[in-house]
Amino acid sequence: MIKREKIKDLLVSTAFGTEVKVMGWVRTFRNNQFIALNDGSCMGNIQVVVDFENTAEELLKRITTGAAIAVSGTLVESLGKGQKVEIKATQVEILGDSNAEEYPLQPKKHSLEFLREIAHLRFRTNTFNAVFKVRHALAFAIHQFYNDRGFVYMHTPVITASDAEGAGEMFKVTTLDLDQLPKTDDGKIDYAADFFGKATNLTVSGQLEGELAAMAFGQIYTFGPTFRAENSNTTRHLAEFWMIEPEVAFADLEDNMQLAEDMMKYVINYALTHCAEEIAFLNDRLSDEEKQKPQQERSEFTLIEKLNFCLNNDFERLTYTEAIQILKQSKPNQKKQFKYLIDEWGADLQSEHERYLVEKHFKKPVILTDYPKDIKSFYMRMNDDGKTVAAMDILFPGIGEMVGGSQREERLDKLKARMEEMHIPQEELWWYLDTRKFGSAPHAGFGLGFERLVLFVTGMTNIRDVIAFPRFPKSAEF
Ligand code: 4AD
Ligand code: MG
Repeated sequence: MIKREKIKDLLVSTAFGTEVKVMGWVRTFRNNQFIALNDGSCMGNIQVVVDFENTAEELLKRITTGAAIAVSGTLVESLGKGQKVEIKATQVEILGDSNAEEYPLQPKKHSLEFLREIAHLRFRTNTFNAVFKVRHALAFAIHQFYNDRGFVYMHTPVITASDAEGAGEMFKVTTLDLDQLPKTDDGKIDYAADFFGKATNLTVSGQLEGELAAMAFGQIYTFGPTFRAENSNTTRHLAEFWMIEPEVAFADLEDNMQLAEDMMKYVINYALTHCAEEIAFLNDRLSDEEKQKPQQERSEFTLIEKLNFCLNNDFERLTYTEAIQILKQSKPNQKKQFKYLIDEWGADLQSEHERYLVEKHFKKPVILTDYPKDIKSFYMRMNDDGKTVAAMDILFPGIGEMVGGSQREERLDKLKARMEEMHIPQEELWWYLDTRKFGSAPHAGFGLGFERLVLFVTGMTNIRDVIAFPRFPKSAEF
C-alpha cells in the first residue's frame, strides 16, 4: 500500500509540525531549493523546501519540471509570500524522471492550440485541471438531478442499425474486408455477410431506444457518447460528443421546456458552488483573453456574471414564427448583413440568426418552439395547424444551440404518414412503431450536448478544449 496525503488537504491544514508524505509532479524548481509540486487534487501547488546543502547533487539534478516525485517532510507554516503552508523536505525520491529539454510543458503560458497538440499532457496545466474538474462536476450533477427526480438511467446501444435523426451522417460499423467487399447479384454490398447480418453504424442519438424505456418506466435519461460524421470544422462541433437525453411519458412540450430549464439551472448552480475555485480561475482566464480583443468585441459580462445571469432569469420563450418576424425586421437583415437573408417563413435558422436572437435581441437563453415540420425530424408531434411540429431548441449566448427536443408523435397514423413523407423505412423501425400500437401515450424529451454545456460553464471558446481527446475531421490522435 502506498500512503500519501493530498495536496488539496495540506494546503488548508494547520497541523504544523506533523510528518507528511506527498507525491506529485514538479511544476517548477527554483534556486535548487523550492519545488512547486502538484498532484492534481487541486489547481494549487504545495511548496517543498529542499535542504540543498545536504542533498546529493545527483538527486537535485533530477528534480526537473514534469518529474514525478515523492516527498517526505514536516508541514510548516510558510514565511514566504503566496502560501500559508509548505513542506520542509527530509527525503525526496524520484519516481519518474522527466527530461527537461524534451518535456513540452514549460513553466510559461502556452497557447490552447499548442496544448491541443499535446492533449496527453495538457491535463497537467491549471486551465485543463479546472476545465476537467468542472466537466466532472457537471456530469455528476446531471446524474444527481435525474436521480433525485426518480428518473432511470438507461444505457442505450452505441452500435445501431437505425438512423435516429434521419440525417444520414453516420459512421459505418463493419468487419467486412474493405478491399474485397462481398456483393449481391445486383452489385450492392452484401451486408448479410457482415458481422450483424445487416448494415450498422455508430449511434447519432439514443432517443428512439430511450422512448421505448420511457413507455415503461415513465421517466428515463441517457448519458452517453454519440457520433456524427458531419464535416463540420467549427468551434461547436465534434464527431464524437456526449449527450444527455431525458424522455418523459405523460408530458408535453411545456413540461419538456420546464425540465430542460430546471436541469440547466441546477447543474450550473452545482458547478458554481462546488467548483468555486476552478470557476474563479476560468473567470480570470477569460477576462484576460477578452482584454486582447478590440473594445466592441468584448463581452459585457464576466464568466461568473454570465452564469449568475442565466440562473436568475427565465429563459425567453417564443415560437419559430415569432422569431422569423423579429429576424425579418432586424437590422442585419434589412441591411443585408446576414449571409442567409430571412425573407420567408419556413427558412431554416442559421447560427448567425440564432446568435442575433440570443446575443443581440434578447441577451439571454432563448427557447424557440413550433418549427416548420419540413426542417425537423419525423418523430416530432404535428401541431393542429398541420404546418408546424411541437419542437424546441434552446439557444445560448456564445454557444448557439445547446438543446434540441420535442414532444413526440404518439398517434400511430400520423407518425406513419410522416415517415412515409420523409422516406423513413417503417420495416426497420417496427419496434418503435410498436410503442404506438401498444399503450401509446403523450411523451416528450430532448438532447443536451454535454460539451456545449461544459463550454458555456467554463467560458472556453473551442469545443475541442472541453473534451479530453477531441475527434473531428482529419483528427483522431490519442
Ligand atoms: O439537435 P440534435 O441533433 O437532437 C437529437 O439528437 C435528438 N435525438 C435529441 C432528443 O430529442 N433526444 O442534438 C442534440 C444536441 C444539440 O442541441 C447540440 O447541443 C448537441 O446535441 N450536438 C452536438 N454537440 C457537439 N458536436 C456536434 N456535432 C453536435 N451535434 C449536436
Ligand atoms: Mg438540433
